Amino acid sequence: MDHKVGHYKVKDITLADQGRMKIEWAESRMPVMMQIRKEVEVTKPLAGYRIAGCLHVTKETAVLIETLSAAGAQVSWSGCNPLSTQDDIAAALAAKGTEIYAWHGMNVEEFYWCIERTLDMKPNLTLDDGADLIFTVHNKFPELIPTIIGGTEETTTGVHRLRAMADAGALKYPVIAVNDAETKWDFDNVFGTGQSSIDGILRATSILLAGKNFVVAGYGHCGSGVAKRAQGMGANVIATEVKPTAALKATLEGMRVMTMDQAAKVGDVFITATGIKDIIVKRHFETMKDGAIICNTGHYDCEINIDDLEAIAVSKRTVRPNNEEYTLADGRKIYLLAQGRLVNLAAAEGHPSEVMDMSFANQFMSQVRLATEHKNGNKLENKVYDISEEQDQHIAGIKLSTLGYEIDKLTPEQVEYMDDYAAGT
Ligand SMILES: NC(=O)c1ccc[n+]([C@@H]2O[C@H](COP(=O)([O-])OP(=O)(O)OC[C@H]3O[C@@H](n4cnc5c(N)ncnc54)[C@H](O)[C@@H]3O)[C@@H](O)[C@H]2O)c1
Repeated sequence: MDHKVGHYKVKDITLADQGRMKIEWAESRMPVMMQIRKEVEVTKPLAGYRIAGCLHVTKETAVLIETLSAAGAQVSWSGCNPLSTQDDIAAALAAKGTEIYAWHGMNVEEFYWCIERTLDMKPNLTLDDGADLIFTVHNKFPELIPTIIGGTEETTTGVHRLRAMADAGALKYPVIAVNDAETKWDFDNVFGTGQSSIDGILRATSILLAGKNFVVAGYGHCGSGVAKRAQGMGANVIATEVKPTAALKATLEGMRVMTMDQAAKVGDVFITATGIKDIIVKRHFETMKDGAIICNTGHYDCEINIDDLEAIAVSKRTVRPNNEEYTLADGRKIYLLAQGRLVNLAAAEGHPSEVMDMSFANQFMSQVRLATEHKNGNKLENKVYDISEEQDQHIAGIKLSTLGYEIDKLTPEQVEYMDDYAAGT
């Protein structure tokens, strides 16, 4: 492990050149971020701000980090999942001067050690994916809170938790819910998770999806994206849900809907995408077919109850990278991918750059919004803020224009018509 105190701890700094090439590849596919970078290199809207970030260390995140730095921020980074860091990317970032503490395959103790190191520089802004950094600040380093202006949160699970904290009066600084932006939730979670989760499953198993019974737990943004991609590859998709409208949508989109108790008996591949714990538990493992493959793409590794699986297994071995075979007492085998952690990040590379372009534009602009409110002397409340419609449309507009598309504009007469409640037949 390469460790330079106060600068980085990464797996292998000699991987930097390889990582740099991947970052350049991501840059070539992230036109919105590169346009933003060009502007902020000059305007430096984050000069004087210290940002601690805790988000999957991928080539796309590297583009975000280096854009924050280009905007004048001092940045310190950790990964937000023990299995999602890409070591060559961490090395490339460290080699170019980013303070970073991240490596693939860390244990839970190391995970929090890395987060704590990013707090050594006493950040005044935080950037989270899953809220572990914000929780660490609140629970272990409350003395940092008075000088923290605010934070931003990337994912559904983190936003849920922060809203619960705010409702309980426990959130001590304002947070912007990046996840809930239309240009994030409706693209990253749907198309990004949809494609990259399938990518992770295929890299870990190399199976043919066509003809498989493919069970998706949770037909929300991520789940529906995964389901449609699997369906497109010829799988027979089954959705499990707890929300009637989501289940209904699944049926009208051509999926079969059933309970997990029913699906467990027929599924060949299972993926959880709910953000809720204990979706697949002992009674499901007990009825699964021999050879069933299970994985998760929700934020935490609690959706599949791995303790239950360990308890009923008589042996276990790693049969391929990110693929563990559990043999049960009756001889049936169940294959768990990526230790039940985000399969798209642990077994593949995470979302494609094109979609992270918009998610990270939202992250970047939200950090700038917090800094700007601070500079203007505006004190935000300790609550979870949404991204403005204006920011959403602005980001989507840049993305469209970089793709070479033009769209129509409302005429003044159309605007008047829209607002006119008197017009009828
Ligand atoms: N893998 C990734 O890269 C990635 C990307 C974005 C989000 N996420 C994570 O994925 C998870 C889902 O996010 P989302 O944006 O799709 O949320 P969402 O709210 O849009 O969807 C979740 C769905 O799960 C359903 N659900 C809840 N409990 C269930 C249960 N017991 N059984 C079946 N269905 C149930 C809900 O009704 C909802 O429809 C979160 O943990 C989020 O943080 C992962």
